[in-house]
Amino acid sequence: MSAASAQHGTPILSTRHLIGVAGLSVAEITALLDLAEEYVEVSRQRRKLELLKGRTQINLFFEPSTRTQSSFELAGKRLGADVLNMSVGTSSVAKGETLLDTAQTLNAMNPDLLVVRHQHSGAAELLAQKVSCAVINAGDGWHEHPTQALLDALTIRRHKGRFEHVVIAICGDIRHSRVARSNILLLARMGAQVRIIAPSTLLPPNAARLGVEVFTSMEEGLPGADVVMMLRLQKERMDGAFIPSEREYYRFWGLNEQRLALAKEDAIVMHPGPMNRGVEIDSVVADGPRSVIREQVEMGVAVRMAVIDALARNLTREAAA
Ligand code: CP
Repeated sequence: MSAASAQHGTPILSTRHLIGVAGLSVAEITALLDLAEEYVEVSRQRRKLELLKGRTQINLFFEPSTRTQSSFELAGKRLGADVLNMSVGTSSVAKGETLLDTAQTLNAMNPDLLVVRHQHSGAAELLAQKVSCAVINAGDGWHEHPTQALLDALTIRRHKGRFEHVVIAICGDIRHSRVARSNILLLARMGAQVRIIAPSTLLPPNAARLGVEVFTSMEEGLPGADVVMMLRLQKERMDGAFIPSEREYYRFWGLNEQRLALAKEDAIVMHPGPMNRGVEIDSVVADGPRSVIREQVEMGVAVRMAVIDALARNLTREAAA
């Protein structure tokens, strides 16, 4: 049995829900990453634990997802939970049922964990106030995507061994990205030196107050970077034209081999996915030797196992109190 199960019961998170990284301390983040590291091996061996036997996890996704939904499903199952994936398209949401009514209906079935993705910022927090189970935010509007930031952090720590003084360039559509927001908060808190690089139209209005270095040119922002994190253009959240054309965007902002050569020689390339090849990233880079994009996906399962385990520990302690 892994150290993870031997330590089962030790509290990791002080909160009942995981809504964002904004409320997490350095100690909580470190403990989650350490636990996830143990789950990497469990996951690689495709072992099924019984830590969450008798627990029920419902995945409620109002927006499309490949990586997050499937990895939450695998994570819950590898921990021994019963996992139900709600297909919103074929649920009564299609008949006009509201987010709250849907969640309260599911809550009446006594789940332990509700994993929710929603197009509106604040949806996960609202649900957390209305249901009796633990809520995990799997991405809410432009707000936060905490488990993505945690899996990105785990990937970076595995390659760089630390966060202090690691220069991380987050490039592309920062303005509409919950991934960027969660990563900026988490990586800066852990001591990394975070830069954002984007055309001025795709920078958030509060860029200067984020505590990061801001660049509007890849050529200026990439030199010295240890990590180059590319982001997709979030067209589904754009309410106007933010770039002249995808072709021009790629010409000035796309990551190709020449631009990557500006970063440090051992810089790694990350992307949360889904990628738009030939828009923000060249296939030669996405599939090249410095890309850790597939590893990010693998870390996603381990991190989500750690988060589910951590919240389930709190439920157990609550029930025993
Ligand atoms: N990174 C991410 O959230 O991917 P999905 O939309 O596929 O879940």
